Amino acid sequence: MTSAPLVMVVDDEAGVRDILEEFVGSLGYRVLTADSAEEALRRIESTLPDIILTDVNMPGMSGVELTRRLKADPRLQLVPVVILTAVADLDARVAGLAAGADDFFAKPVEFIELRTRLGALARLKSLVDQLERAERVITALGLTIEARDPYTGGHCVRLSEYGVALGRALGVDADQERALGLAGYLHDLGKIAVPDHILLKPGRLDEGEQARIRTHPAVGADLVAGMRSLEAVRPLIRHHHERLDGSGYPDGLRGDQIPIGVRIVAVVDVFDALNTARPYKPAVAPVEALRVLRREADDGAWDPRVVEALAALLRGRGLL
Ligand SMILES: [Fe+2]
Repeated sequence: MTSAPLVMVVDDEAGVRDILEEFVGSLGYRVLTADSAEEALRRIESTLPDIILTDVNMPGMSGVELTRRLKADPRLQLVPVVILTAVADLDARVAGLAAGADDFFAKPVEFIELRTRLGALARLKSLVDQLERAERVITALGLTIEARDPYTGGHCVRLSEYGVALGRALGVDADQERALGLAGYLHDLGKIAVPDHILLKPGRLDEGEQARIRTHPAVGADLVAGMRSLEAVRPLIRHHHERLDGSGYPDGLRGDQIPIGVRIVAVVDVFDALNTARPYKPAVAPVEALRVLRREADDGAWDPRVVEALAALLRGRGLL
């Protein structure tokens, strides 16, 4: 059995803390208290709560500032934060909203309201946790697929890292940056449906075998269909073998139909494949791999901006 959700109560007034601790505890939650925002941040270092209830006006850091800090920390931003404030205190509500608060409780706290809203927040938090777990499982699956092929060791990690770096260099938004990070692990997920004797074949593939390999982007995209946390990653999986001139697969997209994220994954994927030894070919040095990419960009396959951003990245790392 999983343990009850952990609620943290932050208030400088001992009386309010005691009442809330008793209220929340009687509803079956585990409770952790802190008498200041600073104390809350210290305790969170070692114990991650599922919900945080905080007062606004406290000596030292305010509840609004505490909320802002929690929401700026990737590790904590999905933990619901509830601000306790007087109904009439509109300023505190507006500031709390701007800081990223998830909900407000009116002071003095009504037991019935507390029960209902804590229940809703706990359900929401448990759904978020499930999604995070699903994401970790599916990332591990990507690595498992990579492990089937001893020649591609480290490909996922490199693709993820290069993808994020190029995304940043080309000014994509935070969502797309996260998607690029995950796409490194998930782009070849569909290879799970390709049998070993084809995937690991040392010689040339016949037409039927090639067709089988070419199903992997669509299969992978179908595998993550319906997972809302992977919505932005799905097109990157489906289209990572498309080319700007329409000669790629599975949909033969061309030009503007291919978004920037896809262009990035495609270029990094080809670069890493060239730069890695395979049973049928030795590794090509970065400078030579880049020459190939530039030539293919001239021929219309890749976005030259992406290829040049990759060149700058490699130069910056002393690889060119
Ligand atoms: Fe692929």
